[in-house]
Amino acid sequence: MYQTQPKILVTGGAGFIGSHAVLALKQAGYDVIILDNLIYGHRDIVENELQVEMIIGDIRDRNLLNRLFKTHQIDAVMHFAAYAYVGESVFDPNKYYDNNVVGTLTLLDAMLRASVKKIVFSSTCAIYGVPQDLPICEDSPHNPINPYGASKLTVERILSDFHAAYELNSVCLRYFNAAGASPTGYLGEDHTPETHLIPLVLLTALGKHEFVPIFGTDYLTSDGTCIRDYIHVCDLASAHVLALEYLLQGGKIEVFNLGNGNGFSIKEIINTATAVTGHTIKTVDYARRPGDPPILVGSAEKAKRILGWHPQYPNLKEIVAHAWQWHQRRQGSSFLTKLPNPTKHYERSYAALAQQVGR
Ligand code: UFG
Repeated sequence: MYQTQPKILVTGGAGFIGSHAVLALKQAGYDVIILDNLIYGHRDIVENELQVEMIIGDIRDRNLLNRLFKTHQIDAVMHFAAYAYVGESVFDPNKYYDNNVVGTLTLLDAMLRASVKKIVFSSTCAIYGVPQDLPICEDSPHNPINPYGASKLTVERILSDFHAAYELNSVCLRYFNAAGASPTGYLGEDHTPETHLIPLVLLTALGKHEFVPIFGTDYLTSDGTCIRDYIHVCDLASAHVLALEYLLQGGKIEVFNLGNGNGFSIKEIINTATAVTGHTIKTVDYARRPGDPPILVGSAEKAKRILGWHPQYPNLKEIVAHAWQWHQRRQGSSFLTKLPNPTKHYERSYAALAQQVGR
């Protein structure tokens, strides 16, 4: 087997989920190298908290990848680098197919040239679209309703074809809604722009936003708002280590859902955050956001059975509490007093699209 600890290349390791996976890999004793273009990732997190080698570059840079695999003895890849704004993907699909599909294809090509044949891929429940049955299982129909989900499903298909043709082994992990932060308070979610619900709610509690826009109050759900299955980022990270070990021990190709199997509406999230933070959180009702399925709740029984995965933090209050601890720490050192209104992100997307189609 391996003489020294296997060396793992983590693309997107300076991002939210990637950074937690790097920490989990380090704690499990793996040798880690990060590749990140730092468009959304954070150099300070890698330098101060993770303290692992990082190459700053893009997964679409073929020469860089070929060099990287030549100069480093990589045993397996964990691939997080991707664009992941569901709403934006509807307005700018080219950006998503280019990075998420073309970028991954470039990475896979470089891996094959270097005979690196193990990859854990960051997939998503967005590949299911609007589910017919709940909870969603891995073999539920795959009908993404946004380009982000479609880009990830395309990569899953590529990985399956590459397994058949080139014996590339892979595990695709389909996450439900990643949230929370490391209980240490030193790693967490910090996107610019921030469009995800839980961080926006907490930033509002901190006074960085005036209100939380609720995108759609007329869904056929208990209170009219969208329901999601929130999963602690550290539980995602531990699943990645298990998936890697599955491949290192000779596993071939698998897909797993990662969720808690419990759905919470937007209003329930706001109530939980109010209880955790002790702050009043103002909300404003908005129209539905394009590309949003009403309910996404997953079954992770397969991951539990085959990988032996057991979420350590399935409780929503704890997920929100860890995120709150991180945001208080991170924003406490921020020079920004107010952040732009989160709906601006979508207004800009609409404006850019209108310009592209000449309206
Ligand atoms: N939402 C609001 N107001 C906001 C932000 C979000 O109402 O300011 C709503 C959304 O419309 C959605 C829910 O809160 O109904 C959750 O939205 P997020 O943006 O937090 O998460 P998404 O569900 O859109 O996306 C996330 C990941 C994707 C993954 C998807 C699966 O970013 O990678 O979960 O649902 F595919």
